[in-house]
Amino acid sequence: MNFELTEEQLAVQAAARDFARTELLPGVIERDEKQQFPAEQIKKMGELGFMGMMVDPIYNGGGMDSVSYVLAMEEISKIDASASVCMSVNSSLVCWGLETYGTEEQKQKYLTRLATGEKIGAFCLSEPEAGSDATSQRTTAEDKGDHYLLNGTKNWITNGNSASIYIVIAQTDPEKKHKGINALIVEKDMEGFVVGKKEDKLGIRGSDTHSLMFTDVKVPKANRIGEDGFGFAFAMASLNGGRIGIASQALGIASGAYELALAYSKERKAFGKEISQHQAIQFKLADMATQIEAARLLCLQAASLKDQKKPYAHASAMAKLFASQVAMDTTVEAVQIHGGYGFVKEYHVERLMRDAKITQIYEGTSEIQRIVIARELLKG
Ligand code: CAA
Repeated sequence: MNFELTEEQLAVQAAARDFARTELLPGVIERDEKQQFPAEQIKKMGELGFMGMMVDPIYNGGGMDSVSYVLAMEEISKIDASASVCMSVNSSLVCWGLETYGTEEQKQKYLTRLATGEKIGAFCLSEPEAGSDATSQRTTAEDKGDHYLLNGTKNWITNGNSASIYIVIAQTDPEKKHKGINALIVEKDMEGFVVGKKEDKLGIRGSDTHSLMFTDVKVPKANRIGEDGFGFAFAMASLNGGRIGIASQALGIASGAYELALAYSKERKAFGKEISQHQAIQFKLADMATQIEAARLLCLQAASLKDQKKPYAHASAMAKLFASQVAMDTTVEAVQIHGGYGFVKEYHVERLMRDAKITQIYEGTSEIQRIVIARELLKG
């Protein structure tokens, strides 16, 4: 077993770290406060190849492996989890789904522009009454011969307004339950599609989360991904990979908070010495570093399995389940180590603590990850 990263992987990690520190850090507190989407920064991330890292170069992607993606996601999430969720949804849900299951025409038309960040994608599964219970889709895609007529509402959609290409999961044949669901590519300017309310969130406030409304939207049959009825399997497969992205985001939030706490503990003095010299703080730092390392290994293992084209649904769910708990625990401790300073925005850790919570909710709650893991274990 070799834990060494390749030169190329190390270079990606360094480039992401450098970009996050120079381009994302300067305005991150203000964007959080104003709930401002990092549009300029995302454009630059596209130019640098972060929005379609894993896409084949023939579709304008970076042709990199999932391990490199985990490394980049960690670095970007250390500084700005709002930018990293945009990258994650675009890369590991939308681009991956189109590249793996899309037609050549769909890839040329959509993927080539999503991979460069020229266009941003959104993945629309959740509904007011179908979050964890994703088979209960109420949005309908009625088969009208050469097109589908799309009606319904999606909720909590990441990149809701900043996106212009949406993969929408909808029910075509309710009698077939989850086997009657389709995944359709919807463009923002299609008639009858309205971007609804922007959510005012606890964390990842720079990311734009919206409800979406579809009223008699005509979606050409050419925009269906895969065979008729493949939509739910498509969504589940996409989420298996998407969870590696969110696990890496959680990892980055945790390691970002840890690095801040470590540096602060070496500067801040109390009772005549740096607080890092007190055993109470050392124990916290040791626990944080150990948990983070374990989360990192789970993320890299899931990515490595995906790169080797081996089954990884259980590994990505384990990585997300564990890393998101580590993100919560570590950020709370980072605030504690900072004392009163930790409670104010200037020191970043309070934001990381708020950002951490969503990693236990989106792309399947921690309870859903346990279901996915248990299902795989019981397969025998
Ligand atoms: N991988 C592949 N296939 C899977 C799967 C997985 N992880 N989980 C379920 N399936 C398949 C099953 O094998 C089954 O297929 P067959 O009928 O062909 O055998 C089918 O899906 C239905 O499975 P179940 O009957 O077990 O369905 P269920 O309703 O009991 O449970 C679930 C399914 C795992 C709970 C699923 O609904 C789920 O994952 N829910 C969470 C949804 C989610 O993650 N939403 C996040 C929204 S997207 C988002 O957050 C993006 C963002 O903005 C950041």
